[in-house]
Amino acid sequence: MSAAKTKTIAAFGATGGVVGSSLARALRAGHFANALARNPEKLFNSLITSHNVPVQTLDKYLTIVEGDVRDRAAVAQTLLVKRTTDRDDDAEDNDIARDVADVILSGIGSFPYFQWSIRTPFPLRDPTITEDGVATIFGALDDIFAGTFSGKSAANRDEGGMTRRRRPSAPGKKPLLVVVSTAGASRTQAIPWPIRWLYNYLLGPPLADKIKMEQLVMSDQGRHVQDFVIMRPLILTAGGATEEGWEWGLSDAGARDGQSLREREPGPVVGYFVSREDVGKFIFEKVVGAANVMIL
Ligand SMILES: NC(=O)c1ccc[n+]([C@@H]2O[C@H](COP(=O)([O-])OP(=O)(O)OC[C@H]3O[C@@H](n4cnc5c(N)ncnc54)[C@H](OP(=O)(O)O)[C@@H]3O)[C@@H](O)[C@H]2O)c1
Repeated sequence: MSAAKTKTIAAFGATGGVVGSSLARALRAGHFANALARNPEKLFNSLITSHNVPVQTLDKYLTIVEGDVRDRAAVAQTLLVKRTTDRDDDAEDNDIARDVADVILSGIGSFPYFQWSIRTPFPLRDPTITEDGVATIFGALDDIFAGTFSGKSAANRDEGGMTRRRRPSAPGKKPLLVVVSTAGASRTQAIPWPIRWLYNYLLGPPLADKIKMEQLVMSDQGRHVQDFVIMRPLILTAGGATEEGWEWGLSDAGARDGQSLREREPGPVVGYFVSREDVGKFIFEKVVGAANVMIL
């Protein structure tokens, strides 16, 4: 598939700002998507009010599947996106072919709470949710590839759900997976040294969950997904995307003037903070809509 064609997307954690932003941009650009949400109204309203997606665009391009990311059947239902050409047909829902999404976006995560503990002052409400989410996505892909996914477990927002066993029309096709992890989950720590100890002490539980999730993704070896992208922001902030966009890495510009490497870093310096909108924009522009990410 060329980059100019629309892609299909399965989104998890889209009520969060990062995947919400990517999904909104994709929908506005005419890509078709399914999104899993525990609370469909919350997702629907947030895409309208926080991400300025017109209702007509949501009605045309988005299907919301109600469910929990640990519900394998609901996840499988989310992963199977209607082919775009069938969308406007009058065909019964059960007769419409679905394919595994071209791109899976996951920003699933949990929130810490305070407890009186020297060792773990901020445990997560759901300490394994990020790892479990990816494990369930892989399990659901197993079911789809084996043709054993059947029935519905969750109400579909715009249809009555599925009741018959179905195989995707392109059963061999594997999606590209994009997961939002966190800085510090990589082997090269990527945490600025002034806050490294404090970061590990305060944010150990989410870091542990993200590390296990990354291990799962990196050990997949193409069994479930053709490839993956891991986003590792440090501190996510509210607010809009930067007008000029982010520039990543170092440039040679200025080297002849004898400037130091740091002075030659272009654009905003990669540092402590990045907005959810900027990460979502990056995912949309560099992955979902990118010409150099091959979707076979
Ligand atoms: N906050 C930071 O500074 C920071 C820094 C680095 C990385 N991160 C990570 O970056 C990721 C994206 O962050 P974000 O702020 O965009 O999102 P977020 O606000 O952390 O939202 C998490 C998402 O996960 C969903 N979710 C949680 N448990 C679920 C379950 N059992 N079933 C289905 N959905 C579930 C939530 O749905 P509901 O709406 O139903 O709750 C929500 O959509 C998260 O993994 C976060 O931990 C955050």
